Amino acid sequence: MQLKYARISVVMVILAAAVICSGCSPKKMEPPKTEAIEDGTVAPAEWGKVYPLQYKLWMQTAEPTPAGKSKYKKGNDVGGRIDKLDEFPFLAVLYNGWGMGSEYTEPRGHQHMIQDQLDVDPGRYKAGGSCLTCKTPYAPTLEKRMGKAYFSTPYKEVLAGLPKDQQTLGVSCIDCHDSRGMALKISRGFTLGKALVKIGVDESKLTAKEKRTLVCAQCHVSYMITKDREMHSTDVVFPWKNSKVGNIGIEGIIADIKSSPANLEWTQSVTGFKLGFIRHPEYELFSNNSPHWANDVSCADCHMPTITVDGKQISDHRIMSPLKNDLVACAACHNEKPQELRLKVLAIQDDTMIVYLKAGYATATDAKLFEMANRVEASGKKIDKVLYARAREQYEQALYRVIFIGAENSNGFHNPKETMRVLNDAVKYAATADAELRKLLVQAGEKAPEKIDLELSKYVNNRGVKKIMFKPEHEITSPKVK
Ligand code: HEC
Ligand code: HEC
Ligand code: HEC
Ligand code: HEC
Repeated sequence: MQLKYARISVVMVILAAAVICSGCSPKKMEPPKTEAIEDGTVAPAEWGKVYPLQYKLWMQTAEPTPAGKSKYKKGNDVGGRIDKLDEFPFLAVLYNGWGMGSEYTEPRGHQHMIQDQLDVDPGRYKAGGSCLTCKTPYAPTLEKRMGKAYFSTPYKEVLAGLPKDQQTLGVSCIDCHDSRGMALKISRGFTLGKALVKIGVDESKLTAKEKRTLVCAQCHVSYMITKDREMHSTDVVFPWKNSKVGNIGIEGIIADIKSSPANLEWTQSVTGFKLGFIRHPEYELFSNNSPHWANDVSCADCHMPTITVDGKQISDHRIMSPLKNDLVACAACHNEKPQELRLKVLAIQDDTMIVYLKAGYATATDAKLFEMANRVEASGKKIDKVLYARAREQYEQALYRVIFIGAENSNGFHNPKETMRVLNDAVKYAATADAELRKLLVQAGEKAPEKIDLELSKYVNNRGVKKIMFKPEHEITSPKVK
């Protein structure tokens, strides 16, 4: 690899890291203005009167992204959206039984977040107000005002309580900034704030640099929507109780999910198992000792590079894939030509996807073997309960790993080595479950066929209303933002 600041010795590593943090992006930023933005102002247009350049870029996240530059994140540039269930049909088997199995689209620009939710199969926001937690900038106010009722009140009812012209407003200035002086700030104390305590972080001591990652970790993290006995939502909690900052690994996340029935949000129809779920764990994967994390690189370094607009150096508030703006962010530290770096990113992503597919199909095969075992048992035959429980444990270990990497949105780039470790473990767990299930079936006097039919078309084609699949951009209601 080529860095502008070469590493020569161990001492140099530390020096290089220091140079990279302070020297790479020579920020002669616009000094914050003194015009007061009234406390609690949500409307970005008001902030935009003081900071028009950032506002204009922020608005651009509503536009389709430049096409033909990213290999795996095309949803936002092909004039419609791409569903992970179509890209990876084994997911349609695994997620059958709840909202995620009806529609699971790739992310788009920040301006779309609420409108995208409204366009999606309603099964996806059945949990209630909880679903607004990483969408509307009003979430902290709503949680304070409504208390526990916020989490379970029907989604549309909670949304209707917001000012009419701001019901489709996505992540806004107030989510990341203190209006006085524009320092970065964590606005979601009720989710990230509580989770930081679990991983040993004192929020009051965070540096400005750390916040360049943590403002994103308010939403680009996994969470559980905890349930009461009647399956009403009670809270939004990050599964970090077994983890430390810099090491929120899959093992700890799984152990946290499995530690309480309140964390099991859905029933997988193929197996009948009650399970938890893992969502977009960008922060967790990235911060688990990835090469960039270890070198103090932040989310904003790559997704909000310093650019020059009207002769002023500012942070690019049009947040998107770095591949789509020709890797300008990377040039702050890397000497490679953009095309060379792009190929490195794609190579990492391709390697990831090969093992992801292998793990995914193997896990879906396990699910169909469980379906078979359940059928055999229902027909009155005896099955070995101990073996069944052991296979189930192995299967769940595989499944949660497949969910984790599939939900993480960089296709392995954020942490290539850890991604491979997690996926290879998934393959191993899935293979063990496969062997145990076949043994169990043979003992019960049934033989599983050599090749298991996943019945993909059944799951892919029957999944609710599928309202937005490849729907052209102009047919999707544009967000109305003030
Ligand atoms: C309030 C929650 C929230 C915060 C804070 C947030 N995001 Fe997002 N982000 C989302 C959601 C939700 C989506 C998906 C929107 C959709 O698909 O409609 C998204 C999408 C994205 C995308 C995909 C964009 C595209 O063009 O497809 C990127 C990249 C991204 N976020 C990076 C970041 C970074 C970097 C930060 C921190 C500087 C950040 N986000 C902060 C919620 C958030
Ligand atoms: C070293 C640079 C780098 C850092 C640091 C980084 N990312 Fe990324 N991120 C990328 C690249 C490269 C991709 C892959 C984009 C693609 O395939 O088009 C990506 C993809 C994404 C995506 C999906 C983009 C899309 O278009 O759908 C999201 C969301 C995201 N990153 C969020 C984050 C968050 C949150 C953090 C911090 C926790 C972070 N990233 C840290 C480089 C980085
Ligand atoms: C997802 C989080 C996020 C959102 C939303 C966001 N910003 Fe920022 N903003 C940042 C980050 C990160 C920086 C870089 C801060 C630093 O480290 O110096 C920044 C920097 C700034 C700065 C300092 C100058 C610069 O460009 O670096 C201004 C001014 C600013 N933002 C205005 C706005 C306005 C106005 C809005 C709403 C229209 C907004 N921001 C929305 C994350 C965000
Ligand atoms: C703030 C500095 C910084 C930024 C910005 C940055 N990197 Fe890096 N990158 C590093 C450092 C430091 C390393 C690790 C060097 C090591 O451990 O050997 C690294 C390592 C890598 C590696 C693995 C080593 C290799 O060459 O195979 C890749 C690939 C990479 N970066 C790609 C990117 C891409 C793509 C972007 C932009 C989206 C980016 N980086 C942005 C500093 C940065």
